[in-house]
Amino acid sequence: MNHINTDNADTWYVRLCSVQILQARQQSALIFYVMSVFAVSGVHYGRLESNVTLACGKSQIRLPVVWHLNHSPMLPWHQVTSDGRLVLLHANHSAQGIYSCYDNSGVLLHSMKLRLGHPPGLLSISCQVPNHTHVRCSWVESVKTFLPAKYNASLRNGQEWSPCIVDVTQKHCDVDHPAFWQPIHTLRITETNALGSTTTIARFKLHDLLKPDPPESVLVKEIEGYPKKLLVSWKFPSSWPLHDAFPLVFQIRYRPQDSMYWSEIYSLESSVVILDALAGHLHQVQVRARDEVDTESQWSEWTPLLLSRPWEDYTTPEPNEELDIYLPFTPPTNSKPEASTPKSHDPKHGDEGNLGLVILLVLFSVVILTTIFSLIFVVWMRQRRRDHATKQELTSMVKMKSMPI
Ligand SMILES: *[C@@H]1O[C@H](CO)[C@@H](O)[C@H](O)[C@H]1NC(C)=O
Ligand SMILES: *[C@@H]1O[C@H](CO)[C@@H](O)[C@H](O)[C@H]1NC(C)=O
Ligand SMILES: *[C@@H]1O[C@H](CO)[C@@H](O)[C@H](O)[C@H]1NC(C)=O
Repeated sequence: MNHINTDNADTWYVRLCSVQILQARQQSALIFYVMSVFAVSGVHYGRLESNVTLACGKSQIRLPVVWHLNHSPMLPWHQVTSDGRLVLLHANHSAQGIYSCYDNSGVLLHSMKLRLGHPPGLLSISCQVPNHTHVRCSWVESVKTFLPAKYNASLRNGQEWSPCIVDVTQKHCDVDHPAFWQPIHTLRITETNALGSTTTIARFKLHDLLKPDPPESVLVKEIEGYPKKLLVSWKFPSSWPLHDAFPLVFQIRYRPQDSMYWSEIYSLESSVVILDALAGHLHQVQVRARDEVDTESQWSEWTPLLLSRPWEDYTTPEPNEELDIYLPFTPPTNSKPEASTPKSHDPKHGDEGNLGLVILLVLFSVVILTTIFSLIFVVWMRQRRRDHATKQELTSMVKMKSMPI
């Protein structure tokens, strides 16, 4: 219990000393008082909402005694028994403080600090397994005890119990290199405080709990020249060993910002190219990870939403026949085929194809227009020539008529 008693006890002790010494000087009986100061019995613990009994020291006392709380005669609801003990009835938080008992002549007989709370209840335990070599179990109390507690935790590794190293302030404990091959694991946590101790036992499968941390350093980038592509890259979670024995599978999901429906891609690599983004739209992108081998294990949390827009052409849309030669990126071939929305990823039928079509159409229209204009011109020329001919005929006829016969 030594641990439990330390809080504030020193402060109280110092304060009591100075009070005692002052009184002692007044009554010039220093030695007696110093002895009584050393008789201060530290902290007394009691249960909230119960009757708490405080004794005025263990030695023979002269009756009657007078009790004070925090140096004031005002006490909470109480009784004093015939042998001088103080019984606090149905004690609540306001009954906590420093209790002192004095004899008839005002001589301090005994002093102690009272703290109230509850014995520990069962714990609610949850465990996280971020990789194959680490288990962290955390807990929350089902009963608020109001008292400092100690915890002793151990995990059964096969036949023997190995300690789970406790962090009291964070209320968790860690086991390194647990026996992952065991089908069932048992964790035992004992909480102890001044009023009692309670042991909670939890059983679980490490395989079921294996859940990597989310991928890190996720980046979504446009690919210049491609209004429907996005390049997504990420790093393995730093708590996951970069080892061939522990492969991860990644799931990437994305959608235009105002769409309800996600598209998904799976990958074993650390980057992937989205080939069917909606041109000109902002997209939401997230990534998560799972142990590739252990199908009972859990997906990590999703990474935070990232927003990105595919490349857009803001300059003059000059047709570039040599686009294919300057590909800045070749899509990786190993993105898994199990994508939830099957897509055609043939770049030949993508934007470049459309550009060719537009050029063809323009050329075609030019040819047609030229033909039409030439035809109109030819027709017009012939008409003009015919008109000219009739005019000439007419004039010659007029000339002939006016010729003297
Ligand atoms: C506390 O003491 C009072 C008076 O002696 C008694 O009536 C009551 O039943 C006690 N309560 C408990 C919980 O012991
Ligand atoms: C904690 O539990 C282990 C295993 O049950 C036991 O050997 C050890 O003595 C306990 N330690 C404390 C401080 O209670
Ligand atoms: C496993 O995870 C723990 C907790 O995040 C970490 O401290 C440890 O370094 C990780 N182990 C490996 C091999 O990465």
